[in-house]
Amino acid sequence: MRERLEQLRAEGLEALSRADSEDELREIEVRFLGRNGALTHLLKDLGGLSPEERPEMGKLANEVKAEIAASLESLRLNLKEQAYSLEISGSGFDGSLPGPSGPRGGVHPLTQVLWDLEDLASRMGFAVVDGPEVETEENNFDALNISVDHPARESHDTIWVKGDSQSGGGLCLRTHTSCVQVRALKEHGAPLRVVAPGRVFRQETQDATHDHTFHQMEGLVVDRGVGVPHMLHAMEALLAGLFGRPLETRLRPGYFPFVEPGFELDARCPFCDEGCRICSRTGWIELMPGGLVHPKVLDACGVDSNVFSGYAFGLGLSRVAMLRYGIDDIRWMFSGDLRFLEQFRL
Ligand code: PHE
Repeated sequence: MRERLEQLRAEGLEALSRADSEDELREIEVRFLGRNGALTHLLKDLGGLSPEERPEMGKLANEVKAEIAASLESLRLNLKEQAYSLEISGSGFDGSLPGPSGPRGGVHPLTQVLWDLEDLASRMGFAVVDGPEVETEENNFDALNISVDHPARESHDTIWVKGDSQSGGGLCLRTHTSCVQVRALKEHGAPLRVVAPGRVFRQETQDATHDHTFHQMEGLVVDRGVGVPHMLHAMEALLAGLFGRPLETRLRPGYFPFVEPGFELDARCPFCDEGCRICSRTGWIELMPGGLVHPKVLDACGVDSNVFSGYAFGLGLSRVAMLRYGIDDIRWMFSGDLRFLEQFRL
């Protein structure tokens, strides 16, 4: 047995030393190590050996097998390396050609809108700030002059994390980015010029234009002598920058407890001529609420409302994305549906 094994080892290594192609290596592998190979056949005879001989021969057989296998592996590697150096040195090889490319990703429409807004606002002199998504009742409501009995505080509108509108001192998922007005004013005082983009949450029954989670960008300017014309100009400049042209807009009165006077800036609905489900059959889409910061808000944030005034506006990022890309249902945004996402490949 020992002799036959040693002979196999010698034969195997000798065959390998002469092999110079992958095909030959495969042939040797099958011949010696394969299921019908010489070594496998020999191993079957192990059973016939005496109990004293068996372990020793088993060990030797394994050694021979491992040695042939290792030699095979290293020869394979050598062959691959040779082929590769041949390829890169041979004629007709152009190292400057691009390699095969993988599938390309894209930027989610909301992210694109967010990046563009941050870019535009920075160029208009706004600093970009943010705040936490879990917010105190004080910052989300009280400091913004939203009274305890205001329906927006009810649990059918607000997702409470701790307490509720009746208990006071609670925590909620912020329902808007307006609470960052409070944070920024308390932290930096006036004069101030910031935008605050971020994720906000409402208790919603979802439909084509509402989601429980969405994104807003707050704008806030507080300085001496700030008025409605400043606000309008900033709003229109932002929108024109976002859409690459001035939008057809209209300004109407709107009520928000933290601004006085308050407005709604609407944009002409791009989906229809005279009314569809996206614009609630009005032909206009509410795009940017805003107004002059209520003196009570300034005072609550430690800014003297006799000296300073300001404007604030909000902008719904998904609304902007819908208008910009012609998306007709807000629920596509977080659907994770590749048919939607692939349309935004770079
Ligand atoms: N926070 C308001 C909302 O979410 C929008 C708003 C922002 C209104 C700033 C006025 C000024 O509906």
